[in-house]
Amino acid sequence: MSYARDVTGPLGKGDVVSNESLANLLKEERRFAPPADLAEQANVTAEAYEQAKADRLGFWAEQARRLSWETEPTQTLDWSNPPFAKWFADGRLNVAYNCVDRHVENGLGDRVALHFEGEPGDTRSLTYADLQREVCKAANALVELGVRAGDRVAIYLPMIPEAVVAMLACARIGAPHSVVFGGFSADALATRIEDADARVVITADGGFRRGKPSALKPAVDEALTRPGTEKVRNVLVVRRTGQEDVAWQEGRDLWWHEFVGRQSEQHTPQAFDAEHPLFILYTSGTTGKPKGILHTSGGYLTQISYTHHAVFDLKPESDVFWCTADVGWVTGHSYIVYGPLSNGATEVLYEGTPDTPHQGRWWEIVQKYGVTVLYTAPTAIRAAMKWGDDIPAKFDLSSLRLLGSVGEPINPEAWIWYRKHIGADRTPVVDTWWQTETGGIMISPLPGVTAAKPGSAQVPLPGIAATVVDDEAREVPNGSGGYLVLTEPWPSMLRTIWGDDQRYLDTYWSRFEGRYFAGDGAKKDEDGDIWLLGRVDDVMLVSGHNISTTEVESALVSHPKVAEAAVVGATDPQTTQAICAFVILRKGSAEGEGLVEELRAHVAKQLGPIAKPKRILPVAELPKTRSGKIMRRLLRDVAENRALGDVTTLTDSSVMELIQSKLPAAPSED
Ligand code: WT7
Repeated sequence: MSYARDVTGPLGKGDVVSNESLANLLKEERRFAPPADLAEQANVTAEAYEQAKADRLGFWAEQARRLSWETEPTQTLDWSNPPFAKWFADGRLNVAYNCVDRHVENGLGDRVALHFEGEPGDTRSLTYADLQREVCKAANALVELGVRAGDRVAIYLPMIPEAVVAMLACARIGAPHSVVFGGFSADALATRIEDADARVVITADGGFRRGKPSALKPAVDEALTRPGTEKVRNVLVVRRTGQEDVAWQEGRDLWWHEFVGRQSEQHTPQAFDAEHPLFILYTSGTTGKPKGILHTSGGYLTQISYTHHAVFDLKPESDVFWCTADVGWVTGHSYIVYGPLSNGATEVLYEGTPDTPHQGRWWEIVQKYGVTVLYTAPTAIRAAMKWGDDIPAKFDLSSLRLLGSVGEPINPEAWIWYRKHIGADRTPVVDTWWQTETGGIMISPLPGVTAAKPGSAQVPLPGIAATVVDDEAREVPNGSGGYLVLTEPWPSMLRTIWGDDQRYLDTYWSRFEGRYFAGDGAKKDEDGDIWLLGRVDDVMLVSGHNISTTEVESALVSHPKVAEAAVVGATDPQTTQAICAFVILRKGSAEGEGLVEELRAHVAKQLGPIAKPKRILPVAELPKTRSGKIMRRLLRDVAENRALGDVTTLTDSSVMELIQSKLPAAPSED
């Protein structure tokens, strides 16, 4: 039995290791105060914390006024039936109008909304006026296909402007979209179409990935042969790659350029209730069928617009924002589509991979468009570290003024590298914690206020209430670890799991009475700042001590020869679990004699002897999901010499064969 995977198991009792490690990190790292000029002109100052503390709901009511409402809300939060929240319930608005039309009406029609960069190097810029025309045409097309407010539309597209247009067109007519990541299989698509009961699918012939066209339409055709998808009436197909012989079902399939192309550019947006569903987005979680996370309109847009303004300090007249996520993830929904566009931002949309055709592609894009604010994930930062400092150094990155990170804990080493090699040792780095379920950013430094600590997401944003509790739901004192919980409802919270209220209750609200349990382990340091320690399912139990995988990984990556590390606990007869580490070495570091011993000693020095990995294996790649999260489950299978579990969400399944081939048959003794 693996205790560490028991979500209800203890965490934070007697874990001497973690405290020492934090103390170590804090000793070694500086704090990074906000640059004076940024602080002086920051969109949000320290006052916001005070204001929200004095009147949390009043604070959010004020943020709701960032939006244009057809009917202004008089109610803020209705929490009479917890945990089913209603925010701004008597308000009415149109989300697409807020993201597009109102900017055109305000005279900003000529401002570029999207700088699209295709992977092959083709480009297109859409102004807000262009976007309005495209969204209106697409909305009219959906209406002609019989899509009505409340009907679901599945979107399965590459990172092209039509993805943004399709989402906004759905929002405009009140048809909740369900975006399915273009890297998912026909099966994954079919399950999601069925669960959401979608009537129309919007896709493309394909997209460009790693220098080649990669087809999408065949996956849709296959998905639509699966039982449960019969109600799909039409498939709207964007021509992106121009591949020949696209299979076609007459009467069902329609080319976007023909069908949307011939629509009127006029469409009058209608207002919907603030609680009208905006989208469903599936998250896989660790077990069971994917959960359809439901987000609604007014509260969601309020928090997304506010957090984009506050955390990225966005100045819409001068900033060029770039969030590198895919629109298939919540990061793309909130910080490519709804946040930036509701704020009238100019942003970059890039189709491809960071290393096509060369490992400097991202930095070339930053230079080309003068990107000022960059938002990406630790996995991408660590890949760039691995490729070498000399690559970003070849480009002019001086336009950058702020950097963000999301998706996993960012280890202090990567944080510092990011600031130094991408941000010229000058830009703030904001480490933003949130989830598909939270809709928007919850815990993060504010760039003009917070003295940043590399590796910590630090403090809940104004209007957000989060803390760390122990097994009995007691708040832990500073310097201790436990479970991260959210203690008050927030505007962009999920409203339920689509079609399964009970699962919503069980998954998030049953572990701690009246509190939302995020599933993450966390620790408060001596200042009360929050450090994320990874999913509680990943915590290891070694000789009676709880040890966080994140902390051992951070310790390994703090060694100059290590670029990336993944740590798992493997069942062990003596110690319950034994720490097993997989490491990717930095460019130019050889695997040579003694390296493993050197790394083990390094971890022991950083964290204490109890955290010393029993085994360390240098590998070429780590198994990751397409959103960049390490699949520790598979590494545990390898470490425990088991047959591999489900590998269908892996980016590259050959990675596992490579890792397995390196593994000695039986674990060596200490
Ligand atoms: C999980 C949510 C939020 C958009 C992308 C991921 C982890 C996310 C951080 C961070 C430490 C983080 C958590 C969380 N996570 N951001 N800054 N520091 N961990 O969305 O796929 O719903 O994943 O990602 O474990 O629970 P998601």
